[in-house]
Amino acid sequence: MSNTIDHLLDEDRRFPPSADFAANANGTAELYERAKADREGFWADQARELLHWHTPFTQVLDWSNPPFAKWFDDGELSVAYNCLDRHVEAGNGDRVAILFEGEPGDERRITYAELTTEVKKAANALQSLGIGHGDRVAIYLPMIPEAAIAMLACARIGAIHSVVFGGFSADSLRSRVDDAAARLVVTADGGYRKGKVSPLKPAVDQALADRGTGAQETVEHVLVVRRGGNDIEWTEGRDLWWHEALDAASDEHEATPFPAENPLYILYTSGTTGKPKGVVHSSGGYLTQAAFTNKYSLDIHPESDVFWCTADIGWVTGHTYVVYGPLALGATQVMYEGTPETPHPGRWWEIIQKYGVTILYTAPTAIRSFMKQGRQIPQQFDLSSLRLLGSVGEPINPEAWIWYRDVIGSGRTPIVDTWWQTETGATMVAPMPGVTDAKPGSAQVPLPGILVDVVDEQGATVDNGNGGLLVVTAPWPSMLRGVWGDPERFKETYWAKFAAQGYYFAGDGARKDEDGEIWLLGRVDDVMNVSGHRLSTTEIESALVAHESVAEAAVVGATDETTGKAVVAFVIVKESYLAAHSPEGLAGDLRGWVSGQIGPIARPRDIYIVSELPKTRSGKIMRRLLRDVADGHEVGDTTTLADTAVMSVISAQVK
Ligand code: WT7
Repeated sequence: MSNTIDHLLDEDRRFPPSADFAANANGTAELYERAKADREGFWADQARELLHWHTPFTQVLDWSNPPFAKWFDDGELSVAYNCLDRHVEAGNGDRVAILFEGEPGDERRITYAELTTEVKKAANALQSLGIGHGDRVAIYLPMIPEAAIAMLACARIGAIHSVVFGGFSADSLRSRVDDAAARLVVTADGGYRKGKVSPLKPAVDQALADRGTGAQETVEHVLVVRRGGNDIEWTEGRDLWWHEALDAASDEHEATPFPAENPLYILYTSGTTGKPKGVVHSSGGYLTQAAFTNKYSLDIHPESDVFWCTADIGWVTGHTYVVYGPLALGATQVMYEGTPETPHPGRWWEIIQKYGVTILYTAPTAIRSFMKQGRQIPQQFDLSSLRLLGSVGEPINPEAWIWYRDVIGSGRTPIVDTWWQTETGATMVAPMPGVTDAKPGSAQVPLPGILVDVVDEQGATVDNGNGGLLVVTAPWPSMLRGVWGDPERFKETYWAKFAAQGYYFAGDGARKDEDGEIWLLGRVDDVMNVSGHRLSTTEIESALVAHESVAEAAVVGATDETTGKAVVAFVIVKESYLAAHSPEGLAGDLRGWVSGQIGPIARPRDIYIVSELPKTRSGKIMRRLLRDVADGHEVGDTTTLADTAVMSVISAQVK
């Protein structure tokens, strides 16, 4: 039985960087040479060049007890000092760290000097509430500067933060607070979303309310940031205003160094089943790779760039590319509180024009939703400051890639498609802008110092041109150090499949092209076997999105008596097309189109034209639920959907 994934879609457009971009880029081909010659030495150099060490390390990687890695183990550093004080000491205290734009249009420009002072006060405030080294602090905030300040204040005193996405429910918050036995929660009265104040504090009250749960016992204090101006319930003795606590705190605070392996944070990520996993990241290795990737793969020049990573602080992208990466480099960045369409659909482009954003890093799901609305919206704004665009979170279909480059990047900006995960902590596979000739739809090459492969079920390398499973074959600095409180789950989830080879298995399918470069094919759980061919959802979705009528597509394998699985597609049609075409006609056209693009084997049995797709809060399509619909089953658990009503709409549309 073959377990490789069949490859059907060809994409041969190539985009070399301009001579001007290449001449000014941080990345060079030489980095790959250096890393190849001495991988550990290369990472040691990066750690020394990019960070300040209070106690220099002498050891690089300790892999004597796999899969528990230690990097730079005898070194000591302060993550907060690296992100704050050292920039002030170097004379850059007046440089803006955060250009904050609230959804209602309020602005705050926070310099490195001001951010450092705020973090010092917050660190003192936490300490005065008894929080210290190793304690867990849950952070449940909107996308406001206090989120970064709270995280850095924890880092400064060696407390471990666990950021819980502000869109999660009281139940999700409770289970995360319980699992980590957090002693303190930082929240806000609310935050602005879609023109309204979305309350947060009531969810905290609810999460901590029921007697007999763990949360009731461990949480001593709740610090509340005033943002929305809502009336809130107050628990005397437990609840404190953030601004009052900070006003009362001293602005002097010495950054304490901690060992490189001191845990920096826990971030919960939903497993395929059961309770969320608390992914644990450490300090020295994590910060090294966060800064390295932000400098080379996203090409930040701290003196001149205005960086904008649109991720919420509740996801790993918000940790690595809003807080730790850009601040470690001393960069200037935009932070935006609200949704892209509020108060008008051009809000993001207006922000880029207003602040002169030079590097934009966002997700394919956002790009496709802008495609759906049409290019006339971004074209009303001056986007000429942009010089580099990044993508993360899902495979970016070639058509979306081209649209992103043409419409947002004026047809000239390089695009970096960055593959990584909550667990990897930072980018692993991505083109190096200025060095790599870009291929639309491909994440291309592992970063210097990162070793990955595409293998079959037995762990053997697949030949170029074939598909299989993406693995990381050697430990990397920002790798997860474990699953909070559950070492067995850590081993079982990530290391058991290729235990003999010692590979980390990421859960993704991928293929190597003729040049040996990597194309992500989606989660292997989503791969479908049609008449003995293993087809990737990503390729068929890409073919659909390449049709001029389609804005978004999700493909699943439905049970089929003849073929085992049959391809079933759910598509969102562009607004301009809907009026002029009948759904039946469009479905017929699309079936023929997919057949022509990638072959009759991929021809969808059914095509449903829908108005929405089920997505998680981080924008990933939940194909499991669509499989239920395609198979005519009762739709499964929808609680992690961003909008739980979507599935009833889709079920009705399919009927
Ligand atoms: C999964 C990890 C990476 C931070 C945000 C998501 C998918 C991520 C890409 C990409 C294809 C991608 C993978 C991965 N993914 N980036 N550039 N191309 N797929 O973090 O929530 O932990 O999700 O996202 O399936 O395993 P996450």
